Amino acid sequence: APEDLLFSYKGILYPTTVCSPETCQALDSFEARSDDVILVGYPKNGSNWLGQVLNDLEITAAKYTEQEINERMNISNELLILPRLEFGDPEKFKRMKELPSRRIIVTHLSPQVLPKSIFKSKAKILLLVRNPKDTAVSYFHFYNNMPTLPSFSSWDEYFTAFMHGKLCWGSYFDYLVEWNKHMDDENIMVITYEELKENQTLGLKKIADFFGFFVSGEEIQMVAEKSSFEAMKEKSFKTHGTFGKILFRKGTVGDWKDHFSEAQNKQMERKFEECLAGTKLGEKMKY
Ligand code: PPS
Repeated sequence: APEDLLFSYKGILYPTTVCSPETCQALDSFEARSDDVILVGYPKNGSNWLGQVLNDLEITAAKYTEQEINERMNISNELLILPRLEFGDPEKFKRMKELPSRRIIVTHLSPQVLPKSIFKSKAKILLLVRNPKDTAVSYFHFYNNMPTLPSFSSWDEYFTAFMHGKLCWGSYFDYLVEWNKHMDDENIMVITYEELKENQTLGLKKIADFFGFFVSGEEIQMVAEKSSFEAMKEKSFKTHGTFGKILFRKGTVGDWKDHFSEAQNKQMERKFEECLAGTKLGEKMKY
């Protein structure tokens, strides 16, 4: 039954196929390290893209040998496609202690649910955001193409659910409001999907500087080329299996124009204004 596909933890929905209440309850047993690289983003903000970028920057900066890279992958096994912190069984937090530094950690969680040690440590957090209209469109296709998620019979029905936050990982607007409270934390940097699309090299340079990855301009260029939408889509079967086909859909800015009615456009703009007008994060997300 569709209701078996989801469960609720602290008022937010999660998919039962990848998450569990036990793992959510065990989140605080995760111990952050000061050199952890933490990537946070609401679903469909581009976590797979930036996850690969961060992993490649770390591999490049640390100058691992081929063997060391393979070892890194084997120890974690889970690192291969950088599963979300909240995925898997609760024992994973013990296994994560075995991972060599620097660990790349990816999550869709809101700050109130994130392991407390992340904020207590000096671990740096990269907050990846994407304009809510394209995020909504991307999530719509994902929901309807993933057999493990409930389907929506129409775009309009889905739009209402998105506006009310009745989706896995909850409301995108609530998510942004919560993260906006952290805009003055010195360990957090915000980057938008749109600015990365516009100038990936510049975006990667900022990210490398923030995390202190020592990489040359040429190396950044190489990482950027490997992480273009086309390059990642082409390798998607290898990196993500059959899931890759669903995940690497379009990778563009402005696809919302083919989905939104004028009324829906106005409604979302109003909601965004209500939640974020005049805030640091709101300003950053103007596009
Ligand atoms: S998930 O499942 O929530 O973690 O999805 P996530 O990776 O966050 O977001 C998926 C969307 O990101 C697009 N994508 C990319 N865009 C640009 N460049 C690259 N390299 C890239 N890789 C993934 C992906 O296509 C999804 O967006 P849409 O609009 O659906 O195409």
